[in-house]
Amino acid sequence: MHSKMIELTVIDRQGQEKALQLVEAEEANLMETLKNHDYEMRATCGGLALCADCHCLILKGQDQLAEPQDEELMTLETRPDAQDNSRLACQLKVSSDLHGVLLQLTNYAN
Ligand code: FES
Repeated sequence: MHSKMIELTVIDRQGQEKALQLVEAEEANLMETLKNHDYEMRATCGGLALCADCHCLILKGQDQLAEPQDEELMTLETRPDAQDNSRLACQLKVSSDLHGVLLQLTNYAN
């Protein structure tokens, strides 16, 4: 089986934009993967969709992502800065859905 390369663009918390190439890994979540790529990631809940530290805005490619589950939506509601294109990176799989996506990490809410 060939692993597919995913290309996405990330704007970090300092506003720096960078293209990333990731190997498709359905068992991995984007929050952990970005952390492994040296993105600053507090992730208090450890990826359980509870803390919203991994909040990001999907600036391009939102429609190609799987719909958020209830836990993710409930946690996003706790973010005063949440928007229609908000997602939790820990709930996004490192799959080809992410190919071509532009996302922006937001500052922590508190
Ligand atoms: S790491 Fe806590 S919600 Fe994603």
